[in-house]
Amino acid sequence: MEYCMEDWPEPIINVQSIAESGDTIVPYRYIKPPSHRPEILKSTPQEQTIPVINLAGLEGDEHACNATMHEISVACKEWGFFQIVNHGVRPELMERTRQVWRDFFHLPMEEKIKYANTPKTYEGYGSRLGIEKGAILDWGDYFFLNLLPLSLKNHNKWPCLPETLRETVEECGGEVVKFCEKVMKMVSKSLGLEEEYMKRVFGGYGDEGVGVTMRANYYPRCPQPELTLGLSPHSDPGGVTVLLADERVQGLQVHKDGAWVTVQPLPHAFIVNLGDQIQMVSNAIYKSVEHRVMVNSEEERVSIAFFYNPRGDMLIGPAKELVTPARPAFCKPVTWNEYRLILRKQGLHGKAQVDSLKPS
Ligand code: OGA
Ligand code: NI
Repeated sequence: MEYCMEDWPEPIINVQSIAESGDTIVPYRYIKPPSHRPEILKSTPQEQTIPVINLAGLEGDEHACNATMHEISVACKEWGFFQIVNHGVRPELMERTRQVWRDFFHLPMEEKIKYANTPKTYEGYGSRLGIEKGAILDWGDYFFLNLLPLSLKNHNKWPCLPETLRETVEECGGEVVKFCEKVMKMVSKSLGLEEEYMKRVFGGYGDEGVGVTMRANYYPRCPQPELTLGLSPHSDPGGVTVLLADERVQGLQVHKDGAWVTVQPLPHAFIVNLGDQIQMVSNAIYKSVEHRVMVNSEEERVSIAFFYNPRGDMLIGPAKELVTPARPAFCKPVTWNEYRLILRKQGLHGKAQVDSLKPS
């Protein structure tokens, strides 16, 4: 059956309007089955935490540089999820970007729904992923926009209020793209590939090269946070994700060795994670990592995710340098456009999509 991607299967209800109605119970559409609910154990101390990498090491002498590269490759292999400090983006700009999105989500609903999105491109203000009728929904609203390629960037689809939003997102987006390129170089080198490798296979150079998108997430307070999730378990489908998280409110959890590890964002750090396309190019030497978002009853949470992706028509598959008799290709190449379409229809389902590429 052909899916209709022009509109949602059901009317969209913004989670913010449910949260602000003052109701003390979560509507059934947001209630996860018992096995998928978060365990909110406030008193248990965390045993593990994601690695922190200080990029200042790369500016140091050869010894410091090698040590930092080693930390990066260990973090990519063992976690696929880490925080980076001294990444080169100004703290003031990060704070301004977070604030301008917080202010956007606090605008009246009439202002926001002018940008209501559809599943065709997802650009704009929305509250769900996937078009499965009757699906259980997540406790969050978002705004999604394109930064690259330039032919897809359209300021008219970005909020016109707050007045400084467009320039702030433009400035922060530009800086984050430069940072993503640094990360792609580090990832390439740590796999023993030449530094430009990832960028090249992603469709690389010029304004019509790689794709970069941004999703501002808004997780309102939730009266029964133990029954739902702000974002269901998923791995990010693209290359790398750079997250500007809320420093005051926790929520993000990373799946590691069968447990969920809560991330405590460091001030002015970026949280970086590897997506499915890096798993594919690296022939699963690096794996994309499942993560989810918990909500809470005390405070809303805002996070901004930047996604660095291949160009739509690029066929992405294992680098031939990383395929050996001992490690045969773990998947066939697939274009980013095709890959992304499945997610746009089906929504978030853990690592099911990248796992489905494995030969059975
Ligand atoms: C995402 C994501 C995490 C967060 O947008 O893909 O995983 O903390 N966000 O909002
Ligand atoms: Ni994610």
